[in-house]
Amino acid sequence: MKKLTEFMEEALSQAFVSRGYDGALGRVSLSNRPDLCEYQCNGAMAGAKQYHKAPFMIAEDVADALKDCDVFEKAEAVRPGFINLTVNPDFLAGYLADLADDDMLSVNRPEKSRRVIIDYGGPNVAKPLHVGHLRSAVIGESLKRILRFMGDEVIGDVHLGDWGLQMGLIITELKHRKPDLVYFCDNFEGEYPDEAPFTISELEEIYPAASARSKEDEEYKKEALEATHRLQEGHPGYMALWNHILNVSVADLKRNYENLNVSFDLWKKESDAQPYIPDMIERMKAEGFAHEDQGALVVDVREDSDTKEIPPCILLKSDGASLYSTTDLATIVERMKLYDPDEMLYVVDKRQELHFIQVFRCARKTGLVKEDTRLSFLGFGTVNGKDGHALKTREGGVMRLEYLIKDINDEMFRKIVENRSVKDREAGETAKMVGLSALKYGDLSNQASKDYIFDIDRFTSFEGNTGPYILYTIVRIKSILSRYAENGGRLEGLAMKAPSSEAEKALMLQLTGFGSMVEDAYKERAPHRICSFIYETANAFNRFYHETRILDEENSEKKESLIRLLQVTRKELETGIDLLGFAAPEKM
Ligand code: ARG
Repeated sequence: MKKLTEFMEEALSQAFVSRGYDGALGRVSLSNRPDLCEYQCNGAMAGAKQYHKAPFMIAEDVADALKDCDVFEKAEAVRPGFINLTVNPDFLAGYLADLADDDMLSVNRPEKSRRVIIDYGGPNVAKPLHVGHLRSAVIGESLKRILRFMGDEVIGDVHLGDWGLQMGLIITELKHRKPDLVYFCDNFEGEYPDEAPFTISELEEIYPAASARSKEDEEYKKEALEATHRLQEGHPGYMALWNHILNVSVADLKRNYENLNVSFDLWKKESDAQPYIPDMIERMKAEGFAHEDQGALVVDVREDSDTKEIPPCILLKSDGASLYSTTDLATIVERMKLYDPDEMLYVVDKRQELHFIQVFRCARKTGLVKEDTRLSFLGFGTVNGKDGHALKTREGGVMRLEYLIKDINDEMFRKIVENRSVKDREAGETAKMVGLSALKYGDLSNQASKDYIFDIDRFTSFEGNTGPYILYTIVRIKSILSRYAENGGRLEGLAMKAPSSEAEKALMLQLTGFGSMVEDAYKERAPHRICSFIYETANAFNRFYHETRILDEENSEKKESLIRLLQVTRKELETGIDLLGFAAPEKM
């Protein structure tokens, strides 16, 4: 459906044309003097030069032509040459009625749907999720939802890190601890056991132990590298262990992501790309892209326009081992072969930007992707503690995501019990839902590329620009609507009437912005746009709510129109939080 601003711009363009001016001057923007008017057009200012006329005269001309236009209640020329616009309340009511009936809430999808693979999450097998993984999961999930809402076919891939040294380290440590396990017996011929020889908690203890030891003990490190190498060559016992590690980890990861309301369509892994490596490298060599440099095999990716040094992309180390870049390139080969997407979008820590510049350039230069396949990198900033440094546990260790979620939920639980009389069991469930909003909104309301401070007190507050404030507003609306229904009010087929207060009109105008906001969030890959919009909507609603009698309204037509307005507000807020990846409880 058409946007309200399109109606305004059409009216303005016509007015310009009818007085002999260029219709392109009829652009409309939100007023920067909301005390004087709602929207404004600066076209007369822009046209002054072209028509050798004082801008104010043009503005007067155009305002005069708008006298009978049903879109505006008032179009006024003001010095030096602005056109101040106030929307006609009846027109606005009609527009809101259409908006209320529109499933897409005035969002227009692009004509062509695209197929996009989003690479997010990026956890590493056998290592617990830490706060660094939070942003990739939360931002990626939201982008997946935004792109789908806009009609794209999205394939979300977790791209598990399962193939590096961490595997060799775990295998080595296991070998030291339990040398008698069949997996280490070189001439074992039977079936390996189905049961893993460790639990997830053991695994999570084994990895850091192995990693620490490898840093001090050269011999041990060598062993781990050797184990990694043998695994990658397909040693049957190691492969069986790797399988166990994978299964135990994936089960745990799934549980964690579920708690975050984050999901993936594909659980592909770095190891899945390995079969594509040999051919890829042969081709890069044969076609002259790859050459040797100090024993390593590299592809130059420098470009003349570079302002900083971009080192070559390394395909193979001097010992023949493949690297992170090799795996990412082979994954691109695999994705092209299996899915042929229009775009691959990587949601990864911005400190990995150089890696992706190298990989993307190499993929493009060597023809791994088609000319019009888009490769994009959305790099996000760091989650910091209140001291401005990367968030750590009290003891100074890496903050596990699980503990972070628990801290937020505990604080939310405390606030909810303090505030309300909800029964305890319900309060636990509610605290989880509201806690998730606190966590995700706290993250997504920041521009992704910026670092932010993880502030539990602020994130869990019911006031201010927070998830709980948004949910609180939705719950308030839901409860008015259900009280209205309990009293026999009808919810279907309600007509919308012109606003009768300034706050009501302001809410209506705010709601008309949903469509262009979502389209912008889509174009810019920017969930934070949704946050600011729903925050403003919640503010506009609460202002309206505090000065309006809704259920006590005596005029039944007016009351029904207010209910209709509540329904649209609710739908926009609920759609907004759904795009962010969380939901509102019934009560709070
Ligand atoms: N596992 C990686 C890490 O923890 C992130 C993976 C990102 N995706 C990719 N295709 N490289 O740093």
